[in-house]
Amino acid sequence: MESRFTGRVLHCRKRHIGRRGDVDLLIMCNYCGCRSIEPIAELSAEHEQVLNLRGDIRRAVRGQDFKHAVGLVRELREVLCVHDAVEELAVYPAMGRLEEFADKVGTLFDEHDEMDDVMDGILAAADAGEDPAGMEWPRLLANLDVLSEHIDHEEHGMFPAAAVSLDTEDWERATAVRAARHAAR
Ligand SMILES: [Fe+2]
Ligand SMILES: [Fe+2]
Repeated sequence: MESRFTGRVLHCRKRHIGRRGDVDLLIMCNYCGCRSIEPIAELSAEHEQVLNLRGDIRRAVRGQDFKHAVGLVRELREVLCVHDAVEELAVYPAMGRLEEFADKVGTLFDEHDEMDDVMDGILAAADAGEDPAGMEWPRLLANLDVLSEHIDHEEHGMFPAAAVSLDTEDWERATAVRAARHAAR
């Protein structure tokens, strides 16, 4: 795999992610090999965990098992604490150097913040002993839908592009951020 972005077109599953000069960028994830890069493999594994938790939370809320839902939100918060740090301190700033990703990176940061806000509200209310039935579940479910699209973009747009664009230094930063975040827990 090339270590630097060359501007060539990658014909994989042909998801259009933008243009460089007059060249369309068509990139996919499942066959491009980006998961052979360890920091991407770790982020992708966390995406699977997050999507599974999303399903569990939706089922718990629909079944009005709000106490269980709070526990699942706590679990989700733990996963995202490390995951988002790696993206926000390593992958997003590095991808933000590419013109075609600059705006998208801003949106991805905002979506993390919005998700954190709703999770923190629910967990603070739970820690304060409030009735879980009255918490912001509709807002959380709406944000989980946004999170699913967010993950889809990362998996099929940003990560394949990152695999051919970022430097060894960028990946070392991602590994260091993950190690530091784990050490701090
Ligand atoms: Fe993200
Ligand atoms: Fe992510």
